[in-house]
Amino acid sequence: MARILTGIQSTGTPHLGNILGAIKPAIDLANDPANDSYLFIADMHSLTQIKDAELLKNNTYAVAATWMACGLDVSRSVFYRQSDVPEVTELAWYLQCMFPYSRLGLAHSFKDKSDRLEDVNAGLFGYPMLMAADILMYDAQKVPVGKDQMQHLEMTRDVASRFNHKFGDTLILPEALTSKSTMYVPGTDGGKMSKSQDNTINIFDDAGTLKKAINKKIITDATPLEDPKDPDSSVVFKLYELLASPEEALKMADALRAGGYGWGHAKKTLLEALVDGFESERARFNALMANREEIDLALSHGADQARIVASEVLTRVRSKIGY
Ligand code: ADP
Ligand code: TRP
Repeated sequence: MARILTGIQSTGTPHLGNILGAIKPAIDLANDPANDSYLFIADMHSLTQIKDAELLKNNTYAVAATWMACGLDVSRSVFYRQSDVPEVTELAWYLQCMFPYSRLGLAHSFKDKSDRLEDVNAGLFGYPMLMAADILMYDAQKVPVGKDQMQHLEMTRDVASRFNHKFGDTLILPEALTSKSTMYVPGTDGGKMSKSQDNTINIFDDAGTLKKAINKKIITDATPLEDPKDPDSSVVFKLYELLASPEEALKMADALRAGGYGWGHAKKTLLEALVDGFESERARFNALMANREEIDLALSHGADQARIVASEVLTRVRSKIGY
C-alpha cells in the first residue's frame, strides 16, 4: 500500500481545467483501496497571495465542496485543511534551517514574481519549504503533481536528504507521480484554461450563466451554416470532445465536416453536455455550500487523523535535532 499525498491551493472555485486535469485523477487515486491517501487544502500557501479573511475561508469551502461533489470518498482518505495542522509550520521552520537560501531563490514560485520584489512577501520565498513540510510531515511516498510542481518536489527530496545526512535517517524521500495522460483543457479563448485568464468554465454555474460563457466568450468563425467546418480548429469541439463519449464526439465531428451543421448547434450540444453531464456534481456542490456543517465535519475529522501522524513525525524530528 502506497501513501499518496497531494494538496490544492484555495485560490478560488476550481474550474473545468482544474477538475478534469487534476481533481478527478486525484480522486480516482484517493478512492483506490490500494492507496493510503492524504488530501488537503493548502490554505496556508494561499495566504502568500490572499489577505482577505472572508475570501480565504470561502475559497477553502469551495475547494472542499468541489472535491466532495466530484466524488471524493472522505471516509477512505485523510481529507483536511492545512491550517488545522499547525505542526506543519514547525517542521517547515526546521527544513528552512537546513536549506540554502540561494537555492530557494531559484524556485519558480518566487522567481516568476522576483521582477516585482516589492510585492513578494517572505512567505512566498519560503513557499517550497512549507510544501516540503506538507509532504514530509506524513511520510508520503507518492505525490501526484502537475509539471509546474516538479521543481518543488525536487526541493522536497533535496531538503529531506540534507536532513537525513546531518541527523541520520528520519524523513522519507517522496516520488512525484505524474499522470501519463496530461490533460490539456482549453479555455473559452482557445488558450490554456486558467483562473488568471478570464477564460474559465465553472461547472457549478447554472445553465443560464454557462450559456452566456459559451455563447459570448467562445468566438467562432463566420463560415456559413451549410459549409463544411474543421472541428479541430474550434474550442467548441475540443471542449465537447473532453466531455462526450468517443461516439458522441465523432458524431459532432462528422456533422461539422459534412456542412449544414453550424457552430450554434455545436455550442448548444456543448452546453447540454456541461449542464447535464455535471448535474449531480452541481446539486451536491450547492447543497454542501448551502449547509457547510458537512464540510466542517469532514475536515475536522480529517484534521484529527492528520494530527496523529504529524505529531509522531514531529517527535521523531525533534529528537533527532536534539530538542
Ligand atoms: P490555474 O492555471 O487556473 O491557476 P493552477 O495552476 O492552480 O490553475 O492548477 C491547479 C491544478 O489544475 C494543477 O494540477 C494543474 O496542472 C491543473 N490545471 C490547471 N489548468 C488546467 C488546464 N487548463 N488543463 C488541465 N489541467 C489544468
Ligand atoms: N503548491 C501546490 C500547487 O500550487 C499546492 C501544494 C501545497 C501541494 N502543498 C503541497 C501539492 C504538497 C502537493 C503536495 O499546486
